[in-house]
Amino acid sequence: MKKFFISTSIPYANAQGHIGHALEFVQADVVARYHRAKGENVFFLTGTDEHGIKIAKAAADKGVNPQDFTDQISARFGELIRVLSISNDDFIRTTDQKRHWPAVKEVWQKLGANGDLYKKQYEGLYCSGCEAFITEKELADGRCAIHKKAPEKVAEENWFFKLSKYESQIKEKIEGGELRIVPEGRKNEVLSLINQGLQDVSFSRPKEKLQWGIPVPGDETSVIYVWADALVNYISALGYSGGEKFKKYWPADVHVVGKDILRFHGTIWPAMLLSLGIALPKTIFVHGYITVDGQKISKSLGNVIDPFELVQKYGADAVRYFLLREIPPTEDGDFSYEKFETRYNADLANNLGNQLKRVLDLAIKYGVSLEIPEKDAVLECWRERRLFDALENFEFSKALELLWRGIPVEEKGDEVRFVDSASVVGLSGLSSSIEANRPFDPMIDEAKRKQDTHNHLVELWRIAVALELFLPETAERIQRQIQERKSEILFPRIP
Ligand code: ME8
Ligand code: MG
Repeated sequence: MKKFFISTSIPYANAQGHIGHALEFVQADVVARYHRAKGENVFFLTGTDEHGIKIAKAAADKGVNPQDFTDQISARFGELIRVLSISNDDFIRTTDQKRHWPAVKEVWQKLGANGDLYKKQYEGLYCSGCEAFITEKELADGRCAIHKKAPEKVAEENWFFKLSKYESQIKEKIEGGELRIVPEGRKNEVLSLINQGLQDVSFSRPKEKLQWGIPVPGDETSVIYVWADALVNYISALGYSGGEKFKKYWPADVHVVGKDILRFHGTIWPAMLLSLGIALPKTIFVHGYITVDGQKISKSLGNVIDPFELVQKYGADAVRYFLLREIPPTEDGDFSYEKFETRYNADLANNLGNQLKRVLDLAIKYGVSLEIPEKDAVLECWRERRLFDALENFEFSKALELLWRGIPVEEKGDEVRFVDSASVVGLSGLSSSIEANRPFDPMIDEAKRKQDTHNHLVELWRIAVALELFLPETAERIQRQIQERKSEILFPRIP
């Protein structure tokens, strides 16, 4: 059985998750569900990033010790993935001293043994928002362009990782597609970063500056830099280096990350892996950022959308649908309640709800029943309809569009008509066929009405099977309604 290992990034446990985190979880979840549906042995990992200055400070601000603080926030992320129906197989925490710490220490020792760590006096600008040293170029008016905070000027003796040594190897792997970065624009972004030259990167902080982290093995004065710790989660969770899971699942098939952390995943992480002598991830999929009413999400603007509230108000699948359908998978996208409710009413309450009710009510009325088709046959049908192509390319919005708008089995120029009941495809295909064939019309031959209704029921089932990848709860409800022959409202209209 083919294995498939997919991860999300591990969010900082400094505050509870927002809608941007929800986007990343949901995107990765669809890919995981798709690969399971193809019969692969999937391992889907997520977790929380719990060390570093930013988190220590957030805990101190609350007057809580950092372990209690991150216990709470991490549990909250666990809750978030549960309410969003995320199908992760594991959840790793960087404060896990049994699972995570030994791997980080082993990695550190191996990088050192390889001659890739050295200590040097360094002066630089540290942004705790980025949890990274930044350069003058990355400042706007003396502040970090991303976090709008003045970085701290530091002069320290730190351990450095020889990132520069791996520059040409990484470039080759990315250019040659061995390490695939999706989308192309992001791949070019990393390549141009590499072309500007990769500097060695500070991999530790002095203990006086950073207590909340993993001590550097053999150096009591230093603590491991948070990214050198966090990136290792992708292998610590697999039991690196001796673990069975590591042998079975590594290399990662897909790392799902947001655009701001691509440089860590596209340069530092591959360099660490090259130094360790282990395979690089196959694909890094990079999503964009969600804005709210056109604004960057920020606590100070008070526009942080709480995904728990959304789920409570509209249901998990409505949230999943919005994130997958409305937010372009690799671009920035905007959330607003207005956009959310428009999508919800048009696509879920009206379109999906109406087709379900129309088909099911007639099936019940005419006593038309469905012999449940083989799942593999249904999936094969969706593969032929190019749903799998869209998913291989992480085109979530397009994939859902296929289910909603359908594609004709036979394309005749630009003309898309669904008058032939044999070519009923997708929700709009159902709708067109119902209008054209009028199975509700008593003037029409009864045998034909039943036949058409049966065809519609088959397509409705197919849609419900495909929906398992995107809206698992809705998929199950539709299937149950068809089997139990009673129609119920899935998504009540928002007035
Ligand atoms: O970066 N829209 O954690 P994080 C979409 N701990 N995605 C967003 C977003 C937004 N508005 N804001 C953040 C970290 N994200 C590190 C990761 S991995 C070894 C360590 C995404 O909580 C962001 O791009 O700041 C990242 O992929 C994820 O949320 C976690 O961000
Ligand atoms: Mg961030």
